[in-house]
Amino acid sequence: MTKPFVLTLGVLLVMSCGAGSVSRATLGGEDGADLHSLLGFKRAITNDPRGALSAWNASAHFCLWNGVTGVSRARSQNCSTLRTLNLSRNFLVGRIPAEIGRLSNLTSLSLRFNNLIGIIPPELCNATSLKELRLTYNKLGGSIPEGFGKLTELRTLSLAVNRISGGVPESLFNLSLLQLLSLTGNRLHGQLPPEIGNAFPDLQFLDLATNMFCN
Ligand SMILES: *[C@@H]1O[C@H](CO)[C@@H](O)[C@H](O)[C@H]1NC(C)=O
Ligand SMILES: *[C@@H]1O[C@H](CO)[C@@H](O)[C@H](O)[C@H]1NC(C)=O
Ligand SMILES: *[C@@H]1O[C@H](CO)[C@@H](O)[C@H](O)[C@H]1NC(C)=O
Ligand SMILES: *[C@@H]1O[C@H](CO)[C@@H](O)[C@H](O)[C@H]1NC(C)=O
Ligand SMILES: *[C@@H]1O[C@H](CO)[C@@H](O)[C@H](O)[C@H]1NC(C)=O
Ligand SMILES: *[C@@H]1O[C@H](CO)[C@@H](O)[C@H](O)[C@H]1NC(C)=O
Repeated sequence: MTKPFVLTLGVLLVMSCGAGSVSRATLGGEDGADLHSLLGFKRAITNDPRGALSAWNASAHFCLWNGVTGVSRARSQNCSTLRTLNLSRNFLVGRIPAEIGRLSNLTSLSLRFNNLIGIIPPELCNATSLKELRLTYNKLGGSIPEGFGKLTELRTLSLAVNRISGGVPESLFNLSLLQLLSLTGNRLHGQLPPEIGNAFPDLQFLDLATNMFCN
């Protein structure tokens, strides 16, 4: 494996949360897709010890919910488009539901430091606006979905410290904008293709340690 990139610890990526154009200020997206996806997420959580989702209900627009930010035309308006979902450090127990893939305008998803189980749903690969995906420190199993290669906007991908097994899908090398890739502390195995050195020209942080790669 060639290593032309600099391996640095603790590089924080500053996310740009663009103020996109907004047309509707009701339920967010087509037919309230964002609202329904968020409610699906809440349903999939079986234990929420810190009550992070307890106020996720119809009494307030979802853009005012804990952990959620969106884009709105004016301050006084409800947002029309969900942009970021950050529920880090809430010790949430449950699965990541397939509905998460319907958050087609979501740019940042951070679920670090929870107790999420099950697999990374392949539907997540439909959330193609994602620039940042952090699932670090959970109990997620299964393998890295092949479709991750569709998330071509990704700058940050951290799946570190989970129970993910299988190989690294070749489609991952499609993510040419990646600046941070961390897969450390999983049960990944197999060969890493030699292209890994060329696939990510902007890479600033790479951590693949504590897996079972053979090269
Ligand atoms: C995403 O944004 C576009 C353009 O603002 C909008 O037409 C679409 O309905 C949004 N989709 C969702 C799921 O919010
Ligand atoms: C709904 O959320 C509000 C806060 O937005 C909270 O005060 C209220 O207790 C919640 N209602 C239910 C039934 O959970
Ligand atoms: C904002 O959302 C809340 C709850 O969904 C709704 O009751 C209220 O009418 C909305 N306000 C505007 C200005 O759309
Ligand atoms: C998510 O929230 C935590 C605090 O709960 C913060 O430390 C972290 O920087 C946030 N992550 C993102 C991507 O906004
Ligand atoms: C994801 O997209 C594929 C096609 O691009 C579609 O067949 C599938 O139903 C979508 N899944 C979800 C959960 O939206
Ligand atoms: C690679 O990205 C392109 C979009 O840039 C997408 O059409 C294609 O399906 C992706 N390939 C894989 C293997 O995921």
